[in-house]
Amino acid sequence: MANVIIIDKNDKFLDLAEKLLLSDDSYTVVKSKTAEKLSLSKKLVEEHEPQLIIVGPSYKESESIGFVESVSSNFPTIGLIWIINEMDTSVMLNGLRSGYKDIVLIDDLDNILGMINNIAKKDVKLKDAILNGKNQNDNKDDDDDNDNHDGKMVSVFSTKGGVGKTFIATNLTVALAKESGKKVILVDLDLNFGDIGVFFNLDPKRTIGDIVSTFDRLDKEMLQSYFTKHTSGASILLSPVQPEASEKITSEHIQKILKLLRTMADYVIVDTPPTLSDTTLAVLDESDEIYLVATMDIPSIKNAKVSLQTMKLLGYEEDKIKLILNRSDSKVSLKPKEIEKTLNKKIISFIPSDRLAPQTINEGTSVVTAQPRSNMAKSLIKLMEGVKNIAGNRKQEKVLKEKVNVNK
Ligand SMILES: Nc1ncnc2c1ncn2[C@@H]1O[C@H](COP(=O)(O)OP(=O)(O)O)[C@@H](O)[C@H]1O
Ligand SMILES: [Mg+2]
Repeated sequence: MANVIIIDKNDKFLDLAEKLLLSDDSYTVVKSKTAEKLSLSKKLVEEHEPQLIIVGPSYKESESIGFVESVSSNFPTIGLIWIINEMDTSVMLNGLRSGYKDIVLIDDLDNILGMINNIAKKDVKLKDAILNGKNQNDNKDDDDDNDNHDGKMVSVFSTKGGVGKTFIATNLTVALAKESGKKVILVDLDLNFGDIGVFFNLDPKRTIGDIVSTFDRLDKEMLQSYFTKHTSGASILLSPVQPEASEKITSEHIQKILKLLRTMADYVIVDTPPTLSDTTLAVLDESDEIYLVATMDIPSIKNAKVSLQTMKLLGYEEDKIKLILNRSDSKVSLKPKEIEKTLNKKIISFIPSDRLAPQTINEGTSVVTAQPRSNMAKSLIKLMEGVKNIAGNRKQEKVLKEKVNVNK
């Protein structure tokens, strides 16, 4: 059994947190309504010798920080969790530096048991205490959940804007999550003008921009807390709302984030900006396959040609890059066969033009769920089958550090 002390000024919070903890019979809970100084709770700590202390959101930052510092110096084995009212990366960083094992937004309180389990993974004493209160089957479930994945990563790319990258990335993600029932993560790496939040009508509470300030201690558990959940079951890492926030994100950040994400999912889909920047190159390097999107117009084909040449220079294997023709039935004089010839590459997917695309985007949904029988959805689902068939043992690409100039 793990003993937990919950401390706050507010009865409602204390009751709610207690209820959540007691829904798992591995915990015993002591509530402490500490209206005055948080430091007065120290006596309680001596008395109950808890494995875990949860500090509620009622106290000033300085008080909560002072408390964790004093408890961890006197009782180094006790884990402390701090609940805060709103996301503030500098507060979070201070809290983690001063000794909190985790910091949880009040909105995420429902996940508190999951967070405690994450802490317990690194804390043998706490783990023992919790496990003693659980039966064998529960443990097995937990282990399943902790399995390390070696996910397949696909990036959707084109140096031209408006060709349908985001449309394809979002539909692929939804199709994969719904059909395969596997863990799917979608990452919006169009850092300046990412619009997956808009496509899916999601509230970007946390974005990839917030990760940078806590980057030094970034691990799976922490990364998980930046995900926004989509109704399809997919987890989404959104791009910063303020374009300025993206300036601090480097290709090293991207590389580490993507490597971690791969261990957290069966499939990672990455949406990219229409540039071949250092950060985009980090994405392309890290991908198992690159879906190069072209449309049936000369500028788009020219861009695709230059991209293919660049990727060849970078030493990417021919097979790693797959060509997708979007709006493939557009009434233009170009023929798909001519495009294949010009690019010296087979088109693996033809996605027709259909106003279902803008329609579903405006509704915050996706074609594959709203109109699964349409030709458009069928082509996207076929593309998804291709993602499922990506070979498991990928070859690591050499990361070329050279700067590449691409004429647009
Ligand atoms: N196959 C298609 N048929 C009709 N409209 C499409 C199609 N693909 C994309 N669009 C539209 O084109 C616009 C740009 O798509 P988007 O995915 O944002 O492009 P990108 O991410 O490459 O800039 C969107 O408004 C979308 O509705
Ligand atoms: Mg886009």
